[in-house]
Amino acid sequence: MRILMVCLGNICRSPLAEGILKDKVKKAGLEWEVDSAGIGDWHAGELPDQRSIAIARRFGIDITDQRARQIRKEDLLDFDLILAMDDSNLRQVHLLAKQLSQTKAQVDMIMNYSEPGKNRAVPDPYYGGIDGFEKVFYMLDEATDRILERHQQSEKRIANS
Ligand code: 4NP
Repeated sequence: MRILMVCLGNICRSPLAEGILKDKVKKAGLEWEVDSAGIGDWHAGELPDQRSIAIARRFGIDITDQRARQIRKEDLLDFDLILAMDDSNLRQVHLLAKQLSQTKAQVDMIMNYSEPGKNRAVPDPYYGGIDGFEKVFYMLDEATDRILERHQQSEKRIANS
């Protein structure tokens, strides 16, 4: 499995989603690749936001090895699954996909894993306080649990078939 998390700036939400899922993947002994990217390039090369780093650290996860980057067309050919934080991110990923004649990635909103079919957004915490980042952490923790369950089950089905 190759999974790409996508938000607007790649410094607040998607780095947390990447860090949380990577931590679970490692603990489960899986060999999945997890990455993240932003729709915009304003923060390319930067560390995650200090508030994302702090929240992750509070839960024992270090995300300081991450650097922001902008999503590129090739990501739609390289990744199996691209998960957007909100509907604006999702639209932008679909626009990028339209520019290609074929894509590999399945594209969805990340919260559809924990609340199927609701298209619930992970709210952008950038202009708020640390509380918003904490809320984002809990939402992503839940969604990533479901991602792991769902895709581990399908990997087992493939292995047994
Ligand atoms: P993110 O949050 O999309 O969760 O990384 C944002 C970070 C920066 C900006 C917007 C959202 N910005 O406008 O610079």
